[in-house]
Amino acid sequence: MVELPIPTVDLADIASADADRRKPAEEALRRAFRQFGLVYVKGHAVDPAALGRFYDAFRAFVARPADEKAPFGRADLWYQRGWTPPNTEIAVASGGQPDFKECYFAAPYDADPELALQYPELYPPNVWPTPEPAGFRDGFLGLGRALHEAGQTLLEGCARSLGLPADAFTRRGAKGAHVTRVLNYLPLREDQVNTPIVWGEEHTDFNMLTLLPGGRFYDPAGKPAPKPDDKSGLFLRTRADADAPAGTMVRGLAPEGCITVQVGQELEILTGGELLATPHVITAPGVPGWSRLSSAHFVHMSCDEVLYPLREFLTDAARKEYGPPVLAGTYSMKTLVDIGLAPKTAIDRLGYRHYDRLESMRAR
Ligand SMILES: [Fe+2]
Repeated sequence: MVELPIPTVDLADIASADADRRKPAEEALRRAFRQFGLVYVKGHAVDPAALGRFYDAFRAFVARPADEKAPFGRADLWYQRGWTPPNTEIAVASGGQPDFKECYFAAPYDADPELALQYPELYPPNVWPTPEPAGFRDGFLGLGRALHEAGQTLLEGCARSLGLPADAFTRRGAKGAHVTRVLNYLPLREDQVNTPIVWGEEHTDFNMLTLLPGGRFYDPAGKPAPKPDDKSGLFLRTRADADAPAGTMVRGLAPEGCITVQVGQELEILTGGELLATPHVITAPGVPGWSRLSSAHFVHMSCDEVLYPLREFLTDAARKEYGPPVLAGTYSMKTLVDIGLAPKTAIDRLGYRHYDRLESMRAR
């Protein structure tokens, strides 16, 4: 594993009114996102003790039998709230291998009422398990909000570092279908270890920014434990260059007290490829019986915003790579179909669907 000089930025520097303090942090952020696709962040409001209690609460939920969890698996909401059963989501770029994980989704903020009517599966009310494990909801919402606030500061710093108005990204995400997810990567059996099975196939996220507060391994007895080996966990692939044409795989191991933040497809498209969505994979350990909890917060564009390179990045190449323009909501719907969470029929809702009216009128 190569050790790369991935920058760490302090949110207090990024948010500072003092340009002398802010500028170097913005430059580090731009370099981190441009070169590595990720940055480590300190000065955030994620409380490690609260995160541990939240993981305990989620462990209590996932320990329940599948038939008790099933009512909270909401295919009708395209799994954007509640429980995602194992082997549901698939990675687009890796041959459609389902992931070895189960998840839970919740939104940390209330939805915009109009967008909730327009996109009912992307902005539904939260679904909470009953009985609710102690601290589950509060832990979920507290984590999501702390990560989201960090994301807003980073998006402002990122915009300024690219010569854009500070709100170039945040105003396009003011009504986004932001969602927080907690994941349980499932233990492998003896015959599954050291096979091509991974916990989460390599993919890029489709939102603007993904914020990762760090996960926790559990040994076969179900006790929290340090990582069982060097091959398991989150790895991120950096941008390709002449020295590393396939990019470089980096372990997503933030310095103590920091969170990891990575670039998603929406930010890639808005910047015409100046920033690239960061490929990442979650590899399983080479020993049976171990599981891992982790969580992520996804900052999205508002569904009614146009997803297309901003004027400052609109070159012929960017038009070719990222055109034609599409609404972020349409883009989300298509992606959720691509990754197996929404049914293919979701696409039929796009465009006109009343051609049969004329036929039936003429038949009268
Ligand atoms: Fe991801």
